[in-house]
Formats: sequence, C-alpha cells, structure tokens
Amino acid sequence: MRRLVTCATLLLCTLALCACFGQIEDKHPDKVLTKRVALFKQFTRALEPIGLVVSGRREYKKDEFVEMVQELQTLSTKPWPYFTSDGNYPPTHARSAVWDEPADFKAAQEKYQSSVNDLLALAPGGDMPAIKAAAEVVGESCKACHKHFRYE
Ligand code: HEC
Repeated sequence: MRRLVTCATLLLCTLALCACFGQIEDKHPDKVLTKRVALFKQFTRALEPIGLVVSGRREYKKDEFVEMVQELQTLSTKPWPYFTSDGNYPPTHARSAVWDEPADFKAAQEKYQSSVNDLLALAPGGDMPAIKAAAEVVGESCKACHKHFRYE
C-alpha cells in the first residue's frame, strides 16, 4: 500500500514538473530568456562553494578559492546582453524596470561587478574576516538588484 502511494506521488510530481517545463517554452528566436536564466543559475552554483568557505564549512585553499571567485567574475558580465529590447516576455521574472530604467539597471550591474572584483582582489590573501565581509557585499549586490528588478 505504501509503495502504491509512493508511486502515485512520484507520478504526480513528474506530471507537475512536466507541466512546469511546458510552460517555460521560450519562443524567442535567440532564446534570450532561457540563456540569461541559465547564467543566473550558474551565478548561484558559483557562489555556493564560496559561501561554504567563508562560513568555515569548507577549508580555504588559496588557488582553489581564487579559481572560485574567478569563475564568479567571468560570469558577472554575461547575463546582461540577453536583456534585449525585445526580451521582456513571459515567463520572465524580470520587472519592467529593467527596460524602463536602463541607467539604474546598468548601475546595479556595475555595483555587482565591482563587488566581485573587490572579492577577487582579496581572495589570494587569506584574510578571512576581510574575505567574508567582501563576500557578503557580493550577496547583498545580488539581492539589491533583485529587489528592484526581479519578481520573487
Ligand atoms: C543587475 C541585476 C542583477 C544582479 C546583480 C543579479 N541578478 Fe539575479 N536576476 C536578475 C534578474 C532581472 C532576474 C530575472 C531574469 C528573468 O527571469 O528574465 C534574475 C534572476 C535570477 C535567478 C533566477 C533564475 C530562475 O530560475 O528563474 C537566480 C537564481 C539569480 N538571479 C541569482 C543571482 C545571484 C546568485 C546573483 C549574485 C551572485 C545575482 N542573481 C545577481 C538580476 C540580477
């Protein structure tokens, strides 16, 4: 009986997932929404190990840590060109402010990029309190932009 219930639950979940994926079909010829969302997911993946190191849950190893932050820096310029003038279409989570307030959106990108650069400058030094503070500024820059330019 329990097995049956598990099966039914699995099936329902699979169906729900399919419904979701069906919904995010991207009809734009260049799939700009799919591309920028994929890049933002990489932002999260790149930030994760950095978070582990600064919270003391993973050992700080200089070269490895520098590489992690370099990855974040490489990504930091990538999503923005995919917010094209024809790129505001469902199911985007971007607010129309992205397109209505381009100067502010650009400023938020620059603020974020400079926070990543600051972290990269500190990354090889091993000064954990300073690195931690800089990593927090990076996280806050993500949030600050989301607050103004993204729906939750
Ligand atoms: C300059 C603004 C800005 C910055 C900085 C920024 N984001 Fe975003 N982010 C956005 C916008 C806008 C979207 C919505 C994209 C869309 O749906 O079209 C988004 C979407 C996302 C998503 C959602 C992807 C999905 O599954 O729909 C994740 C995850 C994300 N950002 C993570 C991050 C992380 C982590 C950082 C910092 C390391 C960051 N972002 C920095 C603007 C920003």
